[in-house]
Amino acid sequence: MKEILKKAQQGKYAIGAFNFSTAEVLKAIVLTAQKAGAPLIVATSEKEAEFVGMREAIALVGAWRAATELPIILNLDHGKSLEKIKKALAAGYSAIHFDGSDLLYEENVAQTRHLVDYVRSMEKTYDRQIIVEGEVGYLRGTSATHSEALEIKPEDLTTPWQAQDFVERTGVDSLAIAIGNAHGVFAKGQEKLDLERLAQIKKAVGDVFLVLHGGSGIPEGDIKKAVELGIVKVNINTELRVAYKEGLAKELKEKPKETTPYKILEASVEGVKKIVLDKIFLFGSTGKI
Ligand code: G3H
Ligand code: ZN
Repeated sequence: MKEILKKAQQGKYAIGAFNFSTAEVLKAIVLTAQKAGAPLIVATSEKEAEFVGMREAIALVGAWRAATELPIILNLDHGKSLEKIKKALAAGYSAIHFDGSDLLYEENVAQTRHLVDYVRSMEKTYDRQIIVEGEVGYLRGTSATHSEALEIKPEDLTTPWQAQDFVERTGVDSLAIAIGNAHGVFAKGQEKLDLERLAQIKKAVGDVFLVLHGGSGIPEGDIKKAVELGIVKVNINTELRVAYKEGLAKELKEKPKETTPYKILEASVEGVKKIVLDKIFLFGSTGKI
């Protein structure tokens, strides 16, 4: 599993990490990655995992791995509760993201370290490979469309020295950073990446896998440069949610008498597929399996 990210790091491309909470969205993501020949990360947040079910998510992803032979990593995204993260690990998730960004820095370090130790012993006992992602810096927004202005404060941003300190003291495999990115889609021109800061962070942390959350709504040019500078995983959720909702609204409007779910969901599925294909192409992971 870690090989997928290592290869991306060496090849200077990024893997898309796409959120899902329903079987048809997962199917749309997987079939698109298969078509593009791209390695794939799929993710559920704590709430998304609650909706789809952790064991169910494992079973669905397992079935898609077998059906497509694609390398698919299942990640628990923004795990804030140690209990839920441990539940996800027990269920069989292959990656976890511990989001301790609400905590005081020292507490974030301590809890992340605890999880890393827990995961390493699990890897040994069960001969599994598990990716642990930590987070430093504060990411604003939620995975939705926002009409309010995006206000990122200088103290929200990850500093190179803190990134280095965090990585050294926790032993995480991957690090999510705040460099002007935010969750959700904001009015045009507001989501801009501090690429200079990214270059400094990359220099400070070396080979740790750098992760960009809040991938929706960031200008394509910024994403491309961020990938060139060392981002190896880009998380996408809001744009998929919007495509799903718009597709559904369209079908319900155009076919008000339709009652068959797979017909009502046709445009949603197509919309999700289009976004995933565009992102895979943008991240440069087409044909990298
Ligand atoms: O963890 C998930 C992502 O960071 C998604 O961000 O909703 O802005 O695409 P997004
Ligand atoms: Zn995120």
